[in-house]
Amino acid sequence: MANENWDEAVIRTRIGIHSGNAEWNGKNYMGYITLARAARVMSAAYGGQILISNDAYELYIKDTTPKAQIKREDKTESSGLRDIDTRSQSPDWERNEISFRDLGERRLKDVILPIRLYQIIGAGLREDFPPLETLDARPNNLPVQLTSFIGREKEMKHVKETLKLSRLVTLTSAGGSGKTRLALQTGAEVIDEYEHGVWFVDLAALNDPALLTSTIIDALGIKEESKKTTEETLIDFLKGKEILILLDNCEQLIHACANLTERLLSSCPKLKIIATSREALNCQGEITYRIPPLTMPDPNSNNTPEQLTQYESVRLFIERALVVNPEFRVNNKNAPALAEICSRLDGIPLAIELAAARTKVLSVEKIYERLDDRFSLLTGGKRTT
Ligand SMILES: Nc1ncnc2c1ncn2[C@@H]1O[C@H](COP(=O)(O)OP(=O)(O)OP(=O)(O)O)[C@@H](O)[C@H]1O
Ligand SMILES: [Mg+2]
Repeated sequence: MANENWDEAVIRTRIGIHSGNAEWNGKNYMGYITLARAARVMSAAYGGQILISNDAYELYIKDTTPKAQIKREDKTESSGLRDIDTRSQSPDWERNEISFRDLGERRLKDVILPIRLYQIIGAGLREDFPPLETLDARPNNLPVQLTSFIGREKEMKHVKETLKLSRLVTLTSAGGSGKTRLALQTGAEVIDEYEHGVWFVDLAALNDPALLTSTIIDALGIKEESKKTTEETLIDFLKGKEILILLDNCEQLIHACANLTERLLSSCPKLKIIATSREALNCQGEITYRIPPLTMPDPNSNNTPEQLTQYESVRLFIERALVVNPEFRVNNKNAPALAEICSRLDGIPLAIELAAARTKVLSVEKIYERLDDRFSLLTGGKRTT
């Protein structure tokens, strides 16, 4: 593509290379999380750039240099980045003519743990690109997530579009239905649009409305000033800044949140807020979005294991089951019970995660049988639930 003589429209290809697990279910490979990661690596690249994740890089190195040591050529770039030259190692590599530029540990926009990325350097490839627009390119305090994010493409698109129409979007729905996770993921994806970043303010443990402003100030890392009230400090800081705040779990302080939000939005014209709350804030300019359950199969329609995996709730179940039981597989025998579980739990992510955790000791069929007593079944997993 780089060597093509383009006329007017130049097509630049970006490539992300990653490797990870794919589960063989007897008929197909299922590697949703690995694929999603590969897509994230690709998304971090610029047109014309090839990025490779550390996992894939290490496999490549292991496969191609059984004994030879890898020469790490220190480039005198101030950023401390270096090229790792593979050319001089073996005769095979003379033909490959590639080397790797270490771009450091980067947080991709799936908000989970950072991974090391390398840029592939080779003849005919453009070499110099601006810094990667990964999550760490903008200020933020988005908490690392230890589990993968599933689906929700439609919902995220909706929230992003709504944010263009309104500076306050409130995600509502029942407990455990994925409001916080959706807000975090959307915040990560739109971070490039906010020069001053995206900030997560966790209000779940807060009961005292008098502490609301200082909780936000702490989350944003602002210092209080003795001559001003906390609200003045906050407004002075936010004024003129392009910033997105995720106000999480507003329901306990709903009045205080509504009042403060209204004042902040009217004083700070570039501020936007995504609130999550079991009920709407009911303040001016708010657009609420009741997020739907995860998509779930119709238990009566005899889905094959492959067909089942197109549903978000099933994918979530499988991903979480694999964490506690790496042997877990969906097959023709347990597929009907799995479809029943996801539909009986109404596609609620928290409930599905709790049910999936039980695959450590129970078969899917047994979990299904015990769903009648679902509250005792689901609380048997984590001690903190
Ligand atoms: N799309 C998703 N992909 C993966 N995990 C998800 C997804 N949505 C929710 N979860 C997981 O399900 C659980 C419940 O989600 P979350 O905490 O976002 O719900 P909530 O609506 O904010 O609940 P609450 O009303 O209690 O604040 C969490 O463990 C979360 O990580
Ligand atoms: Mg929440």
